[in-house]
Amino acid sequence: MLRDKIDELLEQVQQMSAKNTEEIEALRIKYLSKKGEITALFNDFRNVAPEEKRELGQYLNKLKTVAQDRLEQLKEQAEAIREQEDKADLTRSADPIVLGSRHPLSLVKEEIIDIFSRIGFTVEEGPEVEDDKHVFGMLNFAPEHPARDMQDTFFVEKEVGVQKPTDILLRTHTSSVQTRVMTSQQPPIRVLCPGRVYRNEAISARAHCFFHQIEGLYIDKQVSFADLRQALLYFAKEMFGADTKIRLRPSYFPFTEPSAEMDISCNICGGTGCGFCKQTGWVEILGCGMVDPNVLESCGIDSKEYSGYAFGMGVERIANLKYRVKDLRLFSENDVRFLQQFQAC
Ligand code: DAH
Repeated sequence: MLRDKIDELLEQVQQMSAKNTEEIEALRIKYLSKKGEITALFNDFRNVAPEEKRELGQYLNKLKTVAQDRLEQLKEQAEAIREQEDKADLTRSADPIVLGSRHPLSLVKEEIIDIFSRIGFTVEEGPEVEDDKHVFGMLNFAPEHPARDMQDTFFVEKEVGVQKPTDILLRTHTSSVQTRVMTSQQPPIRVLCPGRVYRNEAISARAHCFFHQIEGLYIDKQVSFADLRQALLYFAKEMFGADTKIRLRPSYFPFTEPSAEMDISCNICGGTGCGFCKQTGWVEILGCGMVDPNVLESCGIDSKEYSGYAFGMGVERIANLKYRVKDLRLFSENDVRFLQQFQAC
């Protein structure tokens, strides 16, 4: 009986723990005070048979010593913690909080949006998984246009593993948002459509299977090519500096007529010619043009009353010019050594 009780208390006192001196005192009272549990066992000890007295007496004394030692040990620990706290230098400055950084593509995207918002553009977004109609059909792509080929575009299987012809795909450009905006709003329309686009390309330093674009669209009465040029010149100067020049070269896109590609004077050599601009002094940054009347009509906008311009640029391309990032893959690898460099931006 008494032995069992000693066993039980021995285990308890060996595991005693306390956070402060109050808790240590409470333990002392519980076990060793006049009415404590160990003290009570000494009273029971009187009734132990004489032949057991010697051995149980020693065992009971051991219990008491173990309890006292453990309390002593807890006191020392509490004292050490208190001393440590007293020594704490409250005037020491705190450890600096490690700040995260904005992704360079977000920084560039927001700068572009900010520049165009100053001339009245607002932001519209559209789905990345789109249908053929919004990505190609309504944008005047001929049915046999190569962009509609599996080689260039990712098509989405309607049923997993079943490769049936489908008209659901990952958008290849943000021009698809144009068609969504034009079918749901009436002019005047002045929007910027940022987003991720996908193309079936092998990944290398210069190409990726996904990247980011920003599309611009302005539709109103009497919008002219001169308006387009002026808006783009304003953008180039705001983005790359007041000395920046632009040049528009004739080009072809199914959804604009006339179409052009815009170069800016190389912001690295200032237009004198360097490795970056291949000694030409110019670098291409976007495609643009007057919205083709067919596109306006396919979206339900009267092309006799309204005209408009559109442009589309790659965010990586602009980031590349701004931050001189030579390898496109860095933008999506999440390497902190790369990302940390944008901490102060
Ligand atoms: N969607 C074109 C591309 O991905 C870029 C583009 C060119 C957009 C001309 C336009 C435009 O709005 O007018 O290459």
